[in-house]
Amino acid sequence: MKHFVVGVLPYLTFLILVFGLIYRIRGWYASKVKYQLNLFPVPDTPGGEILKEILFFKTLYRFERPLWVMSYGFHLGIFLIVIGHIAGIAFAGHQFTLFGATPEQSEKLSFAFGMLAGTLAFLGALALLLRRLSGQIKQVSDPWDYIDLLLILVIVTTGNAMRTLAPVELSTVKKYFADLFSLRPINYELPDAFVLHYFFGQILLMYLPFSKLLHLAGGLINKAITLTGDGKAKLLRL
Ligand code: HEM
Repeated sequence: MKHFVVGVLPYLTFLILVFGLIYRIRGWYASKVKYQLNLFPVPDTPGGEILKEILFFKTLYRFERPLWVMSYGFHLGIFLIVIGHIAGIAFAGHQFTLFGATPEQSEKLSFAFGMLAGTLAFLGALALLLRRLSGQIKQVSDPWDYIDLLLILVIVTTGNAMRTLAPVELSTVKKYFADLFSLRPINYELPDAFVLHYFFGQILLMYLPFSKLLHLAGGLINKAITLTGDGKAKLLRL
């Protein structure tokens, strides 16, 4: 089972993720727009405004402040996790030496940012889940909304637990990925805590293209494909 998770599943995950994403994105572009959907000419929104929306969730901040706190914290945590995983594994925790830190300082900074990211993502996901369990939001939620958040909570919790209770050597993880990418055999042991976290992480990556979690890409493409006043589809400047 362990060998399957570290030696076989990653290749399946990669294929399902890449082909799944191509399939979904092609589907969005191919869908026919039969009727003119806009009542007004396409607004020429300045790029700066769109950037503020993406970076700060500006509209949510203005109109729904409590939801902004949960959602922004959660997304910031996930963003830091993605950057942290790539840099942390590629440089085996020594990524801050690029900015002048010593290897020991870099490991401490890596730990601090990892804790910050993991805490933000955990609290954000928990708050979003509790919000969905109450009031009117519960009535408009379907099981997938809960499954998405629960899966993320499981991955974040196993990640946080591994970082604090059963730390894995990042140099070992780096070597593992180098072997995996070069199609070399993985005939050494990896810690159980890592394998568990990695398993759930891969489930998320395989499920991602078919889930609602792709809303960021969907939202941007939706904004990009818009009808002009003469009814023709036009790619908006993003
Ligand atoms: C599927 C590929 C993944 C791999 C190989 C992986 C690997 C790792 C490793 C090695 C650590 C420990 C870092 C350390 O102790 O220095 C870690 C921690 C963590 N992981 Fe992952 N992970 C993956 C996916 C994910 C995903 C998809 C999420 C979130 C949705 C996530 C969330 C976390 C969190 C919150 C931590 C603790 C804080 C941190 O170190 O950033 N991981 N992961």
